[in-house]
Order: sequence, then structure tokens, then C-alpha cells
Amino acid sequence: MMSMIKKLLLIVSLLVSPALLASGGGENLDSVYINLADKGSLRRGAHTFVNYCLSCHAASYMRYERMAADLEIDTPTLVENLMFAADKPGELMTINMASEDAKAWFGVVPPDLSLTARSRGPDWIYTYLRSFYRDESTPTGWNNTLFPSVAMPHVLYEWQGLREAHFDESHGVSEFSGFEQIVSGEMSEVAYDEAISDLTNFMVYLAEPAKLVRYRIGFWVMGFMLVFIALTYALKKEYWRDIH
Ligand code: HEC
Repeated sequence: MMSMIKKLLLIVSLLVSPALLASGGGENLDSVYINLADKGSLRRGAHTFVNYCLSCHAASYMRYERMAADLEIDTPTLVENLMFAADKPGELMTINMASEDAKAWFGVVPPDLSLTARSRGPDWIYTYLRSFYRDESTPTGWNNTLFPSVAMPHVLYEWQGLREAHFDESHGVSEFSGFEQIVSGEMSEVAYDEAISDLTNFMVYLAEPAKLVRYRIGFWVMGFMLVFIALTYALKKEYWRDIH
């Protein structure tokens, strides 16, 4: 009996531990709602991504035309609104910045963001992009409560505005106690959070575009099953008509 319970506990802990690991070991992350079926959200996220991120970070596993097809973006819109770093829709989403230049400017090379949603997790990205604050002591003038001394500036500060962070110092340990809005941004807090959810949603798609294809295949499989059942039923009726 005891060993049964022990075994059960072991199984439960094995099931639960990857979830705990994925949450990043006790960091306080805000959770984000991911919905890959929401094409509007994915398109808004893509728009933010190419405008504000694709200058420093590449997403070099993705081609523009694949993204356009998956997100149902027509070619003229793609070329006019989303392709600033490429000439042809068939190109990969790479950047023109040389690694040596990036290193000289930021001290580190901005990582490729293709798989970040898988390595860091969506909640981490969502929290990170909402945790920047003004800090005169860093080279960029910005800092981040989730990623202290980060080399990335707050590229969306026009949207979010300028915030300072407060820390409680006790016994030589400083603990974050909250943000203070110093200059308001173009967006309300709610609108900014929504824009960041869309961007995170897009980065989840970027890390696993095949998920969208699976949705589509699932839809066709269901459709095929329905047609097949209807045909089988018609056939059954046809056979039994002669017997009755
Ligand atoms: C001006 C250049 C620049 C721009 C623009 C920029 N970043 Fe960054 N980003 C960096 C640098 C540099 C780092 C590395 C930070 C470090 O290691 O200290 C970084 C790191 C990151 C990380 C952490 C990656 C990891 O796993 O460690 C994420 C996520 C990220 N950026 C997302 C974004 C998003 C999303 C945008 C667009 C809204 C963006 N960045 C725009 C320079 C930039």
C-alpha cells in the first residue's frame, strides 16, 4: 500500500516538475494569455516585431512569405508594412547589423529571437517587456527588474512612458517594491499590456510555426470525418433498401 502511494507521488512530482522548471525557478512572472487562433493578435504582434525589434534582433528561422501565409497577410501589405529589412518575400527575417558593431554598441550581441518563446517561456517575455525602468547609472540609461543590468534599451518607452523603480533596502538586501510613472506614454497601461500580449503571442508562433499548421490539419481531418460518416450512412441506407 505504502509503495503504491510512493509511486503515485513520484509520478505526480515527475509530471509537475517540468512545469515548475519552465516557470523559471521562483521568479515573479505575470501570466499572459496565448491564443494562436487569434490571427488579428498575431498580425498586430508581427507589426510591432518588425518595427521595433527586427533592427537589433533577427528571427532567422522564419521567412517573410511563410509568416504572411500563416497569418493571412496579403503580399502588398506584407511588402509595404512589414518588410523593412528585406527586398523579397522569400527572404529570411535576418538583420543588417554586423555582430561586431552590435558588440561594440551594446557589449553583447542581441540574440536571435526565433526560439526565445521556447527557451524563456511566454510569461517571461511578457513580464520582461513590461519591467523596464529609467536608470541613469547604466550605459543605456535603462534597466529591467526581471533582467538586472540588461544591455537592451527600453525600445517601447514612447508607448509605455518613463518609469522609475523603487527598492526597499533592508539588511543590505534591496527588494523591488514598485514602479512610479514619471512621464506618461502614448498608451494607457491596459493598452500597453495588450500590445505586449500580442507581441508575445507572435513570438510564440515564431518559435513553433508548425502549431498553426496542426490547427489547420485538425480542421481538415474533422471535415473529412464528417463527409466520410455521411457517405457511409448513405451507403448503408442504399444497401438496406433492397433487403427491406
Ligand atoms: C537597440 C537594439 C535592440 C532592440 C531594438 C531590441 N532589443 Fe532586445 N535585446 C538587445 C540586447 C543588446 C539584448 C541582450 C541583453 C543582455 O544580454 O544584456 C536583448 C535581449 C532581449 C531579450 C532577452 C533574450 C534572452 O533570452 O536573453 C528579449 C526577449 C528581447 N531582447 C526582446 C526584444 C523585443 C521583443 C524587442 C522589440 C520590442 C527588442 N528586444 C528590441 C537589444 C535590442
